[in-house]
Amino acid sequence: MLALAAGVGGAGLAGGALPLLGQDGAGRKVLDRNGGPYVPTPWPVVDRMISTGSLGPKDLVMDLGCGDGRLVIAAAKRHGARGYGVDIDGDLVRLANDTAAREGVAHLVRFEERNIFDTDVREATVLTLYLLPWMMMKLRPRFLSDLRPGTRIVAHDYHFEDWRAASESVFDVPEKVAITGSPTTTVYLFLVPARVEGRWTVEAPGAAAFDRGELLLRKTLNDFEGTLGIAGRAPRRLDATSLRGLDLRFALPVEGAGGRAGRAIVRARVDGDRMEGTIESTLAATTKFAASRLN
Ligand SMILES: C[S@@+](CC[C@H](N)C(=O)[O-])C[C@H]1O[C@@H](n2cnc3c(N)ncnc32)[C@H](O)[C@@H]1O
Repeated sequence: MLALAAGVGGAGLAGGALPLLGQDGAGRKVLDRNGGPYVPTPWPVVDRMISTGSLGPKDLVMDLGCGDGRLVIAAAKRHGARGYGVDIDGDLVRLANDTAAREGVAHLVRFEERNIFDTDVREATVLTLYLLPWMMMKLRPRFLSDLRPGTRIVAHDYHFEDWRAASESVFDVPEKVAITGSPTTTVYLFLVPARVEGRWTVEAPGAAAFDRGELLLRKTLNDFEGTLGIAGRAPRRLDATSLRGLDLRFALPVEGAGGRAGRAIVRARVDGDRMEGTIESTLAATTKFAASRLN
């Protein structure tokens, strides 16, 4: 990790004090690689990142700080995914576009010399990242607000601190010893969560404890919390809440005939202002659950 910060494998951030911001002593342009120096992701890690992203021809993969474009080009070649990469280094961008042409995927991918901070990520379905920790955290709020729910973020070695990864695979890659001093590599998958915050009205004609109730949900970084209110009853707090991308789950105590105590688990998939799924109860047969956003 330290070596990436110090600039192994290309013009890094190290190298002593610079006389002028944006220029070296000879007046040459100095690139502000504030996301990290150029250190290409070793091929075994590229393979793992691509499989972690579950890529397909409907995807638009963006690599922010794309280097030689290897992740985007490999995704296009292997899975027919469209791709876009940006890098502050124009030489790397030219190399990436030339390689894409040589590999026969220039119709699918495009690389531009651009700062990550000036890059519109809204159309991406998958992001690939190999950027320093501070840059990951700087970008996190934008990813959570701009990316579509369900977008996959596949990150090499660096993560988003307390944003919980959906998966994390740790493995050894001999080529990493030259970069970080250790073969240990981690590939993280993050899923942009559905926007569940707000009031929802429930349709569950088969479950009286839910039907026409009002869900009041508040998003937390990793999950959500909330209550279910039904006319004439005190709102009940949801428990065992979880939100993984578009898939939401919560549980509630329920009461059967004669005051019998039970428990119901709701699982639903969120699609914009609508969610649909099932209610599984210890007291009754599984029934359908749906909710629509009120505000
Ligand atoms: C560690 S390399 C990763 C290269 C490539 N994504 C890969 O995994 O093989 C980080 C790259 O980010 C670029 N970079 C750093 N800061 C940047 C910024 N603010 N805007 C655009 N590119 C940046 C560097 O030039 C470098 O090519």
